[in-house]
Amino acid sequence: AHTSVLVAAVGDIAEGEALQVPAERTGHHDTISVFHDDGTYYALDDTCSHGQASLADGWIENGEVECPLHSARFCLRSGEPQCMPATLAARTHRVEVVAGEIWLHPG
Ligand code: FES
Repeated sequence: AHTSVLVAAVGDIAEGEALQVPAERTGHHDTISVFHDDGTYYALDDTCSHGQASLADGWIENGEVECPLHSARFCLRSGEPQCMPATLAARTHRVEVVAGEIWLHPG
């Protein structure tokens, strides 16, 4: 079963940064990364849908993350690929901010 986890306090993930949450903490099959873009937090499976790259190492901007390996971009909200070479969506997860704490609800 998937477990909701406390990821960090608001302020611990800088704007334009991401934090990895290892699979051991969530029960999910992959590391999940929580991304901070312009005051909003999003969560996607960390491994790029195109290959072996960590999206947490990518470039976060304008509601998207760009893969560091071949530069595919994914919508942080929907996980949908925005350009080649990725064709498969990134799996998304629910993030909730409660009383200054960032919670991840893996789905
Ligand atoms: Fe991400 Fe190729 S591994 S675009």
